[in-house]
Amino acid sequence: MSENDKIALIVTGSIAAIKTLPLIDELRGAGRDVSVILTRAPQEWDWVKVDELKDATGNPVLTEDDSTAAKEKTILAAGTVLVVPASADFISQFVHESTPLACALLSALRKGRDFFFAPAMNVWMWGHPATQRNCAAAEGAGVKIIGPACGHMACGDEGYGRMADVKEIAEAIAASQEGRPHQALSYYDDAKKDPRGVIPVRPDDGRVLVVLAGETMPWPSVKELVNDLSRTGIAADYVLDPNWTKHKDELEALINEKCMVNGQECQTREESVVYYKHFQDPDLEGMEHIKIPESKRLLFFPFIDDELAVRMLQGRGGTLCLDMYLASKAPIVTTAECLRHLAPFTAASLRKDGMETIDHVGRLVCLNAHPRSPGSQPH
Ligand SMILES: Cc1cc2nc3c(=O)[nH]c(=O)nc-3n(C[C@H](O)[C@H](O)[C@H](O)COP(=O)(O)O)c2cc1C
Repeated sequence: MSENDKIALIVTGSIAAIKTLPLIDELRGAGRDVSVILTRAPQEWDWVKVDELKDATGNPVLTEDDSTAAKEKTILAAGTVLVVPASADFISQFVHESTPLACALLSALRKGRDFFFAPAMNVWMWGHPATQRNCAAAEGAGVKIIGPACGHMACGDEGYGRMADVKEIAEAIAASQEGRPHQALSYYDDAKKDPRGVIPVRPDDGRVLVVLAGETMPWPSVKELVNDLSRTGIAADYVLDPNWTKHKDELEALINEKCMVNGQECQTREESVVYYKHFQDPDLEGMEHIKIPESKRLLFFPFIDDELAVRMLQGRGGTLCLDMYLASKAPIVTTAECLRHLAPFTAASLRKDGMETIDHVGRLVCLNAHPRSPGSQPH
């Protein structure tokens, strides 16, 4: 067995992780020895089972519970390192060296290990400028990117983002290492030419999703915001970032307060939903990650601090708010005032990545495909 036949397989947080066992079959069938390292998401979501991976590989499986030193040892013992599937979040961690596992991988890359990533994500995450920058940076650092392929996605969209077929991935790795061409080795060139192919969809259901996220800022006073939104007549739902989950009751109380507009009770607040359970909500099986961006609702970020802005620009996922920022097919909006509080370069970069601005929440209604006048009742 050559050095390259020893493989460290890093399985990250895309639902395509359900294809890990068939991938291992392909690799082992080609005479490779595979050791798996799982990140948190695929294990937590039960997309793959540690015992099955142990049986399939005949090797120990490392998870979030294991030390970085143990993972480093496994990675350095391998000649070939695969990140399959490679989630948008994980590619970002890697190129920004922002987690211990990412640091261990980069050090192995610098020591000359042969690296392959197979990205897998929805069309909109793939097409996000931040994801495109991250893949280009990974490729520039020496990673070979296999895919993504174009096709029908689990969420119903059509486009680039689907993980390449596992047989093709295994064949493409062998071809690359033997210096032969393989069609899957050129998928990335196609996928980066026209990553999104479509422009943000103007929502027409008159709802806006207010994303209350701030990495380090204290909980802001949202009373004025909730009142202003009620007055616009636009129906608002809310998403709370994990560090603000404790303010859920306070937010719901504000939303449920009766609001009068032109002497009439405003219905908007009663209809509102507060999403706060994020990643681990067993009832919703995590499908908000797909359904909310799918619903084409405007995403309104009324507060953005420098830390959140950096995460957005780095294309990080990992919380519902950040995953939605990457995956939204409707425009993402903030206020001009919010951007004024950020460093000018940060604000300009967010705008360049597609962030739209309004000068007052009342303007949100104008961003819908069929705007209603401020103050009118929702249909
Ligand atoms: C049901 C579900 C499916 C998801 N599918 C993908 C996906 O295909 N690609 C992706 O990049 N992120 C996907 N996500 C989001 C990631 O799991 C999330 O960003 C996670 O933090 C990534 O973890 P990692 O950094 O360990 O890869 C999905 C989330 C859920 C709940």
